[in-house]
Amino acid sequence: MIVLGIESSCDETGVALYDSHRGLLAHEIHSQIDLHALYGGVVPELASRDHIRRLVPLTQQILHKAGLNRHDIQGVAFTAGPGLAGALMTGSLMARSLAYSLGCPAIGVHHMEGHLLAPMLEPETPDFPFVCLLVSGGHTLLVRVDAIGQYRVLGESIDDAAGEAFDKTAKVLGLPYPGGPHLAKLAQKGDPQAIKLPRPMLNRPGLDFSFSGLKTAAITELRATPPPASEDLAASFEAAVVDTLLAKCKRALQQEQLATLVISGGVGANQRLRKQADDMCEALGGRAFYPRLEFCTDNGAMIALVGALRLAENEQSALELSIRPRWSLDELKQPGSH
Ligand code: KG4
Ligand code: ZN
Repeated sequence: MIVLGIESSCDETGVALYDSHRGLLAHEIHSQIDLHALYGGVVPELASRDHIRRLVPLTQQILHKAGLNRHDIQGVAFTAGPGLAGALMTGSLMARSLAYSLGCPAIGVHHMEGHLLAPMLEPETPDFPFVCLLVSGGHTLLVRVDAIGQYRVLGESIDDAAGEAFDKTAKVLGLPYPGGPHLAKLAQKGDPQAIKLPRPMLNRPGLDFSFSGLKTAAITELRATPPPASEDLAASFEAAVVDTLLAKCKRALQQEQLATLVISGGVGANQRLRKQADDMCEALGGRAFYPRLEFCTDNGAMIALVGALRLAENEQSALELSIRPRWSLDELKQPGSH
């Protein structure tokens, strides 16, 4: 089955064609970063308008790349939530209209399920069950994944998401938006032990995170006189976030008696996080898996993949335009079960 996947929940327009036999056929991502950079954050109305502009040409491009035409599409998957309501509407409307005109099924996909299963787009895939750390600009979640659609949220951030903390600290460092990758680059030149920063919530039981205090501590250090070297602050901040994330990952793996860890979401592109996660999993006798860098951030491929897996079980969404701007992962079911 050839499935078109459409991602439009935030500031990336992603489209992809996934074949249940041959795997990923083609994909394109258009990032709206430049559009929102002026405002220092995503402007929902501008995001929706840009998705509308991009969706049809990008879909034509991937069809061309894959040597297919639209009549080869046998199912359309779209991100139904969570995300910005207007932005979700654009993808949903496009998916619904296309599926209707082609006479094929459409299916609304949970954005986070896409991130959880994104490593399955790679040649070597993790076996179930595993623990997934989903770290993006909007979410910091630890999830136990037993099967497709069988998820249990083990812990989450009680305030800022890890990516949000990266971005806010980067902004104070004067780095461009979104600051996470810029801060990580600067950190490579600094000393991660130069400035003592807290590792929040480690002395408490449980698997929740909190990054707001750490961000404030870093910003307070920056405003001291004389201020620390920005490379050292960046390196010390990155080390504190990574240590905190991985201490909870280790706790989750031990609690669940598992040794396979998946790290997904935008912050999953962080090289320090990847290196330390590899070392930690190796020490536990297990292994860490990641999607390729371009599939750590939002993309259509992960949505097409989930759509193909669920459509294969005859699951599809009702005809009305259904989006879920707020939608918990715990509410999902295994494909085919109603
Ligand atoms: O998953 P994503 O593209 O979007 C959502 O938030 O859904 O994640 C974007 C987040 C941003 O906060 C960005 O600064 C962060 O991921 N990020 C990074 C790195 N690359 C992206 N944070 C730290 N280190 C990186 N290398
Ligand atoms: Zn995302």
